[in-house]
Amino acid sequence: MTFRVAAMPLLLVAAAASAQVAAPPPPSQTPPDAGMPLLPAWTKPALRGAWNDIRLSPDARATALVAAMTRDEKQTLVFGYFGTDFPRLQYHAPADAHSGSAGYVPAIARLGIPAQHQTDAGVGVATQGGAPVKRERTALPSNLATAASWDVAIARAGGAMIGDEARRSGFNVMLAGGVDLLREPRNGRNFEYGGEDPLLAGTMVAEQVIGIQSNHIVSTIKHYAINDQETDRNAGNSVLDHSAARVSDLLAFQLAIERADPGSIMCSYNRVDSVYACENSWLLTEVLRSDWGFRGYVMSDWGATHSTVAAAKAGLDQDSGFPFDKEPYFGRPLRDALDHGAVPAARLDLMAHRILRALFAQGVFERPVSEQPIDYAAHAAVTRAGAEAGAVLLKNEHGLLPLAASAKRIAVIGGHADKGVLAGGGSSLVYPVGGNAVPGLQPTIWPGPILYYPSSPLDEIKRQAPGATVRYADGSDPAAAAALARDSDVVIVFATQWAGESFDVAMALDGNQDALIGAVGAANPNTVVVLETGGPVAMPWIDQVGAVLEAWYPGTAGGKAIANLLFGKANPSGRLPVTFARSIDQLPDPAQPHSGDVVYKEGATVGYKWFDAKGIAPLFPFGHGLSYTRFVSEGLQATTPGGVLTATFSVRNTGARAGASVPQLYVAPVAGGWEAPKRLAAFTKVALAPGARKAVTLTVDPRLLATWDEAHHRWHIAGGTYKVMLADSARDIRQTVTVTLPERTLPATWRAR
Ligand code: BGC
Repeated sequence: MTFRVAAMPLLLVAAAASAQVAAPPPPSQTPPDAGMPLLPAWTKPALRGAWNDIRLSPDARATALVAAMTRDEKQTLVFGYFGTDFPRLQYHAPADAHSGSAGYVPAIARLGIPAQHQTDAGVGVATQGGAPVKRERTALPSNLATAASWDVAIARAGGAMIGDEARRSGFNVMLAGGVDLLREPRNGRNFEYGGEDPLLAGTMVAEQVIGIQSNHIVSTIKHYAINDQETDRNAGNSVLDHSAARVSDLLAFQLAIERADPGSIMCSYNRVDSVYACENSWLLTEVLRSDWGFRGYVMSDWGATHSTVAAAKAGLDQDSGFPFDKEPYFGRPLRDALDHGAVPAARLDLMAHRILRALFAQGVFERPVSEQPIDYAAHAAVTRAGAEAGAVLLKNEHGLLPLAASAKRIAVIGGHADKGVLAGGGSSLVYPVGGNAVPGLQPTIWPGPILYYPSSPLDEIKRQAPGATVRYADGSDPAAAAALARDSDVVIVFATQWAGESFDVAMALDGNQDALIGAVGAANPNTVVVLETGGPVAMPWIDQVGAVLEAWYPGTAGGKAIANLLFGKANPSGRLPVTFARSIDQLPDPAQPHSGDVVYKEGATVGYKWFDAKGIAPLFPFGHGLSYTRFVSEGLQATTPGGVLTATFSVRNTGARAGASVPQLYVAPVAGGWEAPKRLAAFTKVALAPGARKAVTLTVDPRLLATWDEAHHRWHIAGGTYKVMLADSARDIRQTVTVTLPERTLPATWRAR
């Protein structure tokens, strides 16, 4: 949602000012008057027709149903309400909306069309901040943490779990699937996305969406497109060369959409090429429909629609979140536009068709949602497994981790570790069973509250080290914390960065935590830092500490997951989905995110590609992550039958513990000519018992070997020799072979499945 902020730290204020929605619409009545026809109540059994025949295709059913609908009914379908009262705009949500929800589209009882109950978002069933009663649900680790697992099964299981909670909470549309590329480490919403690489992000987000939709509900993929910062998010103009966009931001969406087949795409707040994303026909029609063949519907972000005729013609199908647009564009204005022929009747039919098609395709008609009991214990195991799989062990000197039984005096410092683990802020915030473990932190209202899940790492550490003395200092006094550290065998510092929707952040820990860690590390070299951050942070203290575990926002079982990792009950297996720069000077644009035109002059040279191209050594490279065991990847061979690049190799666990490795395949033309020296072309995650070995075969999507030829509107693979690299990270290439590929072109419509 796009609400005004009362009190916010640091960089937040400027961004939030611009995040405010435009002038409030006139006060609405109950039900809200958007100029929408109020359909008569229908008491008879719903009319039945061919659309009820489940043997027909979703398209055939949608065609039959649209033919039976009045114009008013079609209009009902394309106009969404905010699901929560919003006193500042004197707005009362429709009575049938689920309280505290993000969105609602009324049912059409005469035809048996169910209401669309929409809930945020990617880590679980959220409740809008303004709602007096919060839905208490299970939260997954942040989406970036899930991407860091590089484990498609983890992503899918997480999606299936939150989709189950959504349907058992009465929701049939989940506004999940954030896949904006991590171009800007300071983007406040990076934690909602899948990282900096299009293949990794597209794959992982798709798997989550597949999991959600396995519950016979619709998921979105969002925010389309090039919505890579929050500063000036309601008006900022993303400027990115189209050829570069096709192999970076757009490719992430393309891969996610074709793998997951989401019911809906949410267009974003920002402008692209000076045109608002939700009325941008290049994005919504040329790319999404003509090139990618997307069959679902496009819904706008809440307050992201800016016109009626332009949006309708460009390809917007559903105008979401009344009353947050300046006008109810797909309400009365659309009716007028239809009356005058400015929007053809066929366009309304198409909008309705796409929405109904998606509902049929997911089984929403046949499997109505309703409030049902939720198995929180089973779901806690799912989120804990996700947190364990996504945590990244960045540094581990002298085997400091896992914690040894000989550590009898353990100091735990900072990060509210005595109470819980941090969550990201904004519309995606899931309220936990048990409520906020650290209430009252500022801001307490949008984009807050700052919320800690009641899963205390300190309690879990005590539980797992019954023979040790575990002492806690809150970290507010670095000298006292250092004294405690000096008097301890091992020190675990919890450090946080709160990020959220509607503001960007510094690439740093909040407050005085750098000084705290520096003081503690200087006092005791056996210092482990556990990070709970939205994305990358600088670590000026890195040489003073023994180990660093990046736990991201680890979700409602985060405390237990962290303790399991610290004590070796779980073996870290996450890998960075984003490069950690040493400092902002290493970024393509060190200046803070700014308003107006945001020109991405690095083009497709995003993340590790930028560091490779410029020869800059990051703090921690993309793909990096340590384990408590050791792996050897070897025997790389690559072939190109029929022009399809396939690589085989084996992975061996040469250490003493079970663990999982993430072999990564990078490719590059020997002659150069790409945006960067190499691209991630394939990956997998391999779990191995000690001593075990596994043969792996990976096939490369040809688009990852291609550049986008804007003049001919197609993919082009240059003929020649290519390096194929088997790697442990973008900076740790283990073996390289070469292959020859013939020149090849692929049409814009080429798809993997
Ligand atoms: C966010 C979306 C969200 C919507 C509904 C907007 O502010 O950008 O991600 O789905 O609100 O809550």
